[in-house]
Amino acid sequence: MNKKWWQQAVIYQIYPKSFMDSNGDGIGDLPGIISKLTYLKKLGVDALWLSPVYQSPQVDNGYDIADYRHIDPMFGTDEDMYRLISLAHAQGLKIVMDLVANHTSDQSVWFQESRKSRDNYFSDFYIWRDAKSDGSEPNNWGSNFGGSAWEWEPQRQQYYLHYYAKQQPDLNWENLRVRQYIFDMMRFWKAKGVDGWRMDVITSISKDQRFQDNPNPFKQTYVTGNQDNGPRMHEFIHDINREVLSPFEMMSVGESPSSTSFDARKFVDPDREELDMVFTFEHMHVDRKPHGRNGRWDLQPLDLVALKQILSSWQTNLWQHGWNALYFENHDRARVTSRWGNDQQYRYESATAFATVLHGLQGTPFIYQGEEIGMTNPNFEINDYEDIELLTNYREIVQEKQTMTKAEFLAAAHKISRDNARTPMQWAPTSNAGFSSGHPWFKLNPDYTTVNVQNDQSNERSVFAYYQKLIELRHRSQILVAGTYQLNCPKNTRIFEYERIYQGVKWTIIANLSNDELSISTYFPNKKYHKFILKNYKDRKDLECNLRPWESFIIEQEI
Ligand code: NOJ
Repeated sequence: MNKKWWQQAVIYQIYPKSFMDSNGDGIGDLPGIISKLTYLKKLGVDALWLSPVYQSPQVDNGYDIADYRHIDPMFGTDEDMYRLISLAHAQGLKIVMDLVANHTSDQSVWFQESRKSRDNYFSDFYIWRDAKSDGSEPNNWGSNFGGSAWEWEPQRQQYYLHYYAKQQPDLNWENLRVRQYIFDMMRFWKAKGVDGWRMDVITSISKDQRFQDNPNPFKQTYVTGNQDNGPRMHEFIHDINREVLSPFEMMSVGESPSSTSFDARKFVDPDREELDMVFTFEHMHVDRKPHGRNGRWDLQPLDLVALKQILSSWQTNLWQHGWNALYFENHDRARVTSRWGNDQQYRYESATAFATVLHGLQGTPFIYQGEEIGMTNPNFEINDYEDIELLTNYREIVQEKQTMTKAEFLAAAHKISRDNARTPMQWAPTSNAGFSSGHPWFKLNPDYTTVNVQNDQSNERSVFAYYQKLIELRHRSQILVAGTYQLNCPKNTRIFEYERIYQGVKWTIIANLSNDELSISTYFPNKKYHKFILKNYKDRKDLECNLRPWESFIIEQEI
């Protein structure tokens, strides 16, 4: 079978600020990552995706880039980055960088020039519009971080568009020069050895040039939404492919918040020459109330039936027409063990159960730093949080609109806020979890005394050891790469079970995603199997005893 490297790979995401601090300034850095390459090799992953390390004022932790071609001094030097690339390559690890090309920082030279006047070289690099006759914003579009998506610029006497913070102006992809600058920058990093790109909100790059108001059923002042799939989006993505990805053989995974499995093929069908994979948000919304007025903070219990249905539709609809990017965690998502599992009594079991379910699917699994040791959400107080999204949403929802109480908002933040995943990596039970000898930029999760790499590595029954086995299994099992997929018992609210079949061999992957003990004969009535491939309860020897809480395994069976 002729597969690309990334189809056989497991990719590990690093959030550099929180990974490993080498110089005691409390901020993770590139030499810190270099010092952990051996650890990553030991885990067994094939590639590292680094969240942005470019020069940035860090309003949105680096997703606001001031200079695409240089490393921010807080992470190290340009040479540190080149060294990381070459040392990673020497160990057989590929490097994937974050392409944040929907917007830049307002500190970028491009924007600094653009804001000055309407008739200079950079004037059309961003999206500028006149005020309405009463001086108000050009339309009712809202920013994802609260308030209007338009900001007034006194020098130019116009508004500019920003889908995120006002310090993150959106680039004008209609302008050919903008596209060419981005392509050149991508080639620059290719020349430095970078192997691929994770593309930040790539589905937002094309804007509907009519700039009409968004529908406003709840009579809000500003309305978010309608930011994806603009009229020229596929054309622009195809351009990226033609200009950079294909000629230089760079891997791509695009963040595509509103994709369903039905439209995903348009991005990832190889014949269309766009992207290799997309990160959907669909399965991440199964615990969000549909149409809640408080957006992501209006939660409901996990709907497992919906989660299975969504993941299965991606498996089925992309079958032989594209490739899945598999994830439960990243720097914008909470820890899965706390969000949907049981991070108290069954932390090991629930972390490994979710890992089994995800890594058994067809696609490329992405592991987010700390997921491999079952890190948990920290349950902070409001003043402990750092994330611009959380803090601006809190001000707007709790203090201004008062559509949630502080207690309700905090309960939601404990479950799903982005900061849950951004606490420093827990390396050891020692001071600052071995992350830094200085004062960490962000509070540690106090559970680091028990949940840490050192403990996991000295314990045979550890989340880390389980991930090692899982990754190794993916490397040597073509059935996981190429086998067919079928979901069993779709309506069951506690069990996730599916089959993969390849060349006459069948693997059944099952996980009890509940605190309850369940009768096994419901799922394996004839109790027949060839062998256990992987299991998270060591004493599971056959198919006789009940499924224990969060028990999960993979078995080979008769077809
Ligand atoms: C998606 C990134 O993952 C997130 O962290 C960031 O805030 C927004 N895009 C804006 O760049």
